[in-house]
Amino acid sequence: MPDISLIEADGTVHGFEAPDSVSVMQAATGYGVPGILAECGGSAMCATCHVIVDDQWIDRLPAPLARELELLECTASERQPGSRLSCQIQLNPALQGLVLRLPERQV
Ligand code: FES
Repeated sequence: MPDISLIEADGTVHGFEAPDSVSVMQAATGYGVPGILAECGGSAMCATCHVIVDDQWIDRLPAPLARELELLECTASERQPGSRLSCQIQLNPALQGLVLRLPERQV
């Protein structure tokens, strides 16, 4: 059960414990964190679940697959080096302490 920190663009921090084996998107929306729209429900079709992974975590996540990379070209806020789709990040105990930021906007 990793502890996740999601930081809104205005600096508001949401810290929560998330179950293993769900995506960051599922955990965040379940917890009620604002700013992740997830319009496609996690099917890697909308890019409205964009998050920016904190620098220290970028290399500790599995690399994005081709479909995620394709969609990251379509995010409403400019793509950054740590940009990922939160529906494609599966949580596991190794992600204890994961820190993510939300972009300015999702649409
Ligand atoms: Fe649609 Fe992640 S929820 S791409």
